[in-house]
Amino acid sequence: MKFKTTPYHSDLLKDNDRLSAFYHAILEYDSNHDLAYDLGCGSGVLSYFLSDYFKEIIAIEIDKKASDCARENLSGFSNIEVVNSDVLEYNFTKKADLIVCEMLDTALIDEEEVPVLNYAKKFLKEDGKIIPQAIINTVELVNLERHYIHWDEDVNYEEFSKPIVYSEFNLLDDINPEFEADLSLKANKNGIINGLKITTYTKLNDNLIIGQSPMLNPPLLIPLDEKSVKVNDLINVKLKYIMGKGIESIQSEYC
Ligand SMILES: C[S@@+](CC[C@H](N)C(=O)[O-])C[C@H]1O[C@@H](n2cnc3c(N)ncnc32)[C@H](O)[C@@H]1O
Repeated sequence: MKFKTTPYHSDLLKDNDRLSAFYHAILEYDSNHDLAYDLGCGSGVLSYFLSDYFKEIIAIEIDKKASDCARENLSGFSNIEVVNSDVLEYNFTKKADLIVCEMLDTALIDEEEVPVLNYAKKFLKEDGKIIPQAIINTVELVNLERHYIHWDEDVNYEEFSKPIVYSEFNLLDDINPEFEADLSLKANKNGIINGLKITTYTKLNDNLIIGQSPMLNPPLLIPLDEKSVKVNDLINVKLKYIMGKGIESIQSEYC
């Protein structure tokens, strides 16, 4: 099927790793269920995947142009309704069997996945499911070339510790968007560190996990003051951010 959409959503459509992960997660949902919500539907591609398995799909998209395209793309499907709205302002009236919400970014800081799901999952049946199901974040010490918060897009950095999992949560749970952790990271060589690298793995269901793909989960690089380290030094860092409030909410300092 050919999808008409915005340049951003077209790049998302070209990311085969991301799309096939969602496709296979939806494929496992193989019986005839009542209702699915597709939150942040963009071009409508995930609603298209859902259309064989659900009697009704409500696809909600905040961006007017994208929602107009999704409505046109999906006009042949009588079981899909496309709504142009902020999910946080949408008047949900029915409980769903499944919520699909791809508002993903590294550590869920810059997109609204957490506030949107904290609100929308009130409209999920007791045995309902969410795709994705869980998020796993790892962190490591690095030496960065650039001294501002940025995503790893062809930039150089040198790793100074093994990655450790510092946060893991199930999206069915109520999640406090205000994240705070005291990290303890062991340097694995001598040199100068000046930052952290965060990597996110998205668990779509019990059987499927996706790390970085062209449009998903690029490593996030966060500066720290410069510090000289020796192999096996333990470096303690306080990391804070608010999920859904953007990378401006990130604070990091030695403690
Ligand atoms: C990463 S894109 C995913 C698009 C599409 N689901 C796909 O997989 O190709 C996230 C989408 O969520 C939409 N979005 C972000 N916040 C939203 C909100 N509060 N309510 C509705 N849509 C939102 C964005 O406009 C964007 O189209």
